[in-house]
Amino acid sequence: MAPITNGRLIFKEIPTGERYPIPGKTTVYDATSTIDLENEPLDGSVLVKTLVLSVDPYLRGKMRAPERQSYTPPFFVGEPLYNFGVGKVVRSENSAFKAGDHVYGVLDFAEYFIPKDITKLEVIVRPEPTLPYSVYVGAAGMPGQTSYYGWKEYAKAKAGEVVFVTTAAGPVGSLVVQLAKQDGLKVIASAGTDEKVKFCKEIGADVAFNYKTTNTADVLAKEGPIDIYWDNVGGPTLETAIANTALQARIIICGYISQYNGEEDYGIKNIKNVLFNQLSINGLYVTAHHERYKDEFYQVIPKKLASGEFKYTEDITRGLESGGEAILEVQKGLNTAKKIIVVADD
Ligand SMILES: NC(=O)c1ccc[n+]([C@@H]2O[C@H](COP(=O)([O-])OP(=O)(O)OC[C@H]3O[C@@H](n4cnc5c(N)ncnc54)[C@H](OP(=O)(O)O)[C@@H]3O)[C@@H](O)[C@H]2O)c1
Repeated sequence: MAPITNGRLIFKEIPTGERYPIPGKTTVYDATSTIDLENEPLDGSVLVKTLVLSVDPYLRGKMRAPERQSYTPPFFVGEPLYNFGVGKVVRSENSAFKAGDHVYGVLDFAEYFIPKDITKLEVIVRPEPTLPYSVYVGAAGMPGQTSYYGWKEYAKAKAGEVVFVTTAAGPVGSLVVQLAKQDGLKVIASAGTDEKVKFCKEIGADVAFNYKTTNTADVLAKEGPIDIYWDNVGGPTLETAIANTALQARIIICGYISQYNGEEDYGIKNIKNVLFNQLSINGLYVTAHHERYKDEFYQVIPKKLASGEFKYTEDITRGLESGGEAILEVQKGLNTAKKIIVVADD
């Protein structure tokens, strides 16, 4: 078989002046590379056909200069981006994989690739085979794990308490809303469009509002004080949440997307309330809790998603050609739900 085009999404340039990762500038679709599926040397690895890729907010943090420290390594300029995904093994020289296996792990943004680090891939175990592969990078994957691990580890939730969740229609926030309702809490949820607010209500939020058209402080003053704040956005919203906490409230810092795109660090001005209200603040990093909770997660969550007890939504982009736009949409909040790139059908 003659070599075929292997489309890839390349990290081309570190964003500098502009705030957002610009398609065609920061990320570039490249169709100049080819691959010979039958003869490409594997050197003990596997050849993977990429099926679905997750687009997550944290990818923006990897588009940085290598010398800047963070909790996740930077992308390499000139090489494909990579993230959680599902693929199918085309050929294998590794006894842990065989042709036809579906694999989960860290995949290149490429139609086909040979992983340099095979330990970042595993044969996917789908406890609920009726759930599409895409769900295993969303509600039943890393974002869902973030919600589950963080809720279990830090919420210390009691029935009747009040929780406030930001970015509540996304894969992380929406699972937090549903876990909180399952535990008998009153849920206040905020999101950036009326459609997202509608979804928050459908999944059980008692109070849901569009933070772009309704003042968060007013809602929390009326519906609070809050016992738990699940923070996905940081900045002024975190400050407003702190101002509306009950005694001994728990704050879970999961993300700070209001400052991922070059914004000045927002200095929280009311930190004294941490003392006044005896607050606990925890930084949540999903990977740190994976070994402890992953088995429980896969036993519990896929089943609830498959039965419809827990709901999830997806926003699908087809083809790596549009991958740069998909990444930008998530940073700008233009994604309508969990953003997935479907690279190829199974
Ligand atoms: N700590 C960890 O281990 C970990 C793991 C996974 C995810 N996270 C974090 O969890 C958060 C949610 O992730 P996700 O995957 O569920 O995201 P997502 O909902 O799929 O997408 C990001 C959403 O953030 C909101 N947003 C964008 N810009 C914003 C801004 N300037 N201010 C406020 N909101 C903004 C938008 O929703 P609206 O339209 O509602 O504004 C956007 O749709 C992110 O902060 C992410 O970094 C953390």
